[in-house]
Amino acid sequence: MPLCRRGGELGEGAARERRGGGVSVRTEGKDAGSGGDTLGRDAKTPVLQVEHLVKHFPVRKGVFGRRVGEVHAVSDVSFEVFKGQTLGLVGESGCGKSTTGRTVMRLLEPTSGVVRLQGQEITAATNPRDLARDMAFVFQDPFASLNPRLTAAKNVTEPLRIQGAGDAAQRRARALELFAHVGLREDQLDRLPSEFSGGQRQRIGIARALALSPKVVILDEPVSALDVSVQAQVLNLLKRLQAETDVAFLFISHDLSVVRHLCDRVAVMYLGKIVEIGDRAQVYDRPLHPYTQALLSAVPVPVPGARRNRIVLQGDLPSPVNPPKGCRFRTRCPKAQAICAEKEPELASRTGAQLVACHFADDDRSMV
Ligand SMILES: Nc1ncnc2c1ncn2[C@@H]1O[C@H](COP(=O)(O)OP(=O)(O)OP(=O)(O)O)[C@@H](O)[C@H]1O
Ligand code: SF4
Ligand SMILES: [Mg+2]
Repeated sequence: MPLCRRGGELGEGAARERRGGGVSVRTEGKDAGSGGDTLGRDAKTPVLQVEHLVKHFPVRKGVFGRRVGEVHAVSDVSFEVFKGQTLGLVGESGCGKSTTGRTVMRLLEPTSGVVRLQGQEITAATNPRDLARDMAFVFQDPFASLNPRLTAAKNVTEPLRIQGAGDAAQRRARALELFAHVGLREDQLDRLPSEFSGGQRQRIGIARALALSPKVVILDEPVSALDVSVQAQVLNLLKRLQAETDVAFLFISHDLSVVRHLCDRVAVMYLGKIVEIGDRAQVYDRPLHPYTQALLSAVPVPVPGARRNRIVLQGDLPSPVNPPKGCRFRTRCPKAQAICAEKEPELASRTGAQLVACHFADDDRSMV
C-alpha cells in the first residue's frame, strides 16, 4: 500500500524550479486559472479558495448561558492560496488569524462562507479523514501539539496510522524518510518529545504535517515560540520542503519580518477583516492601507542606513463584539474622515492585483 499518494515526492531530493512570484487575485479574472510554467505546472491554480468566510462566537451570560452577543472573530474573509506558494496572514493579536486558519481547516465550524480545496467544497459532511489527507495544520506550540507518550517516529506517522496506511514497518520507513527531510537523525526516531529542543519539536510537527503529502498546510505562528536563530532554520526548512513538494502554505504570523522572508503573497487582517492583500513586493514596498503602513513602519528596512517614519497607532484594537460601524480601522486611523464612519470600504483593486479596503487608498503615501 502506498504511504504517499504523490509517491516519492518527498524522496526526490532535488529542489524543483520555483515559480515566479507573480500574484494572481480572483477579482482580476485574467490571472485565475491561467498561466503555468515551462514544466506544465500551473502556479496560478488556487489549491485553496476561501470565500466570504464568517466565524462568530456566542457571548453568553448568566447561569442559563443566555446568548447576549457575538464575537465577530472573522467577518467576510476571502482569499486564495496557490500551488507551491505561501500566503502570509498577518495582523495584531486578536484580529482573527488563528480563527481563520482553524475555520478553514474545519477545526471550527464556520458561521457562513465557502472553503474549496482543489475546487471541491468542504462542508460539514466532508469526511474528516478525507480532509486530513489533503490539509494539515502546524500549531504554534510544538510541545503541546505532540503526544508526549508516543515516540517521535510514532508522532510523525500517527496520521498514517489513522488513515490505515501501510503496516508498522512501512510507517517506520516513512518516519525515517520524513526525519531525513526535516533534518532529524535516525537515532532520534525512538525518543520521546520531551527529549527534543523546541526547534526539533517543531521539525517533528512539520514532518507529521507532511506525512500524508497534503496539498495545503496551515501553519499558525510555527516559529514564534523559537529562538531567532532556530526560527531561521525552520523557515529555511519550510522553503526547501515547499520547493521539493509543491505544497501550498497558509502561514499565520504577527511577525512581518518572518512573513517577508517566506511568503509569496501577504494578506493583512484587522479586526476580523482583510484590509489589504497582494504580492509580497507590492505590499512591503508600496503598502496602500493606513494599517499596513503603520505595521510596516515598525519593521526594520533591509537596506543599510534606510529608515521608515514610525507610525504609532493610538488606542487598542476595538472589541470584536461590537466592531466600529463603517471602516473598522477608523477609530485608530490617522487618515479617517467623515465618510469612514458611514460607509464600509470594499476590498478592491487599486493598483492591479493589490486589493485594499480604504476610501483613500489612492492618496499619497506620505506616511510611509
Ligand atoms: N473559542 C472562542 N470563543 C470566543 N471567542 C473566541 C474564541 N476563539 C477566539 N475568540 C476571539 O476571537 C478573536 C480572534 O481570536 P484569534 O485567536 O483568531 O486571534 P489571533 O489573530 O490569532 O490572535 P493572536 O495573534 O493573539 O494569536 C479574539 O477576540 C478572541 O478573543
Ligand atoms: S477608510 Fe478611512 S478610516 Fe478606513 S483606513 Fe481608509 S482612511 Fe482610514
Ligand atoms: Mg493566533
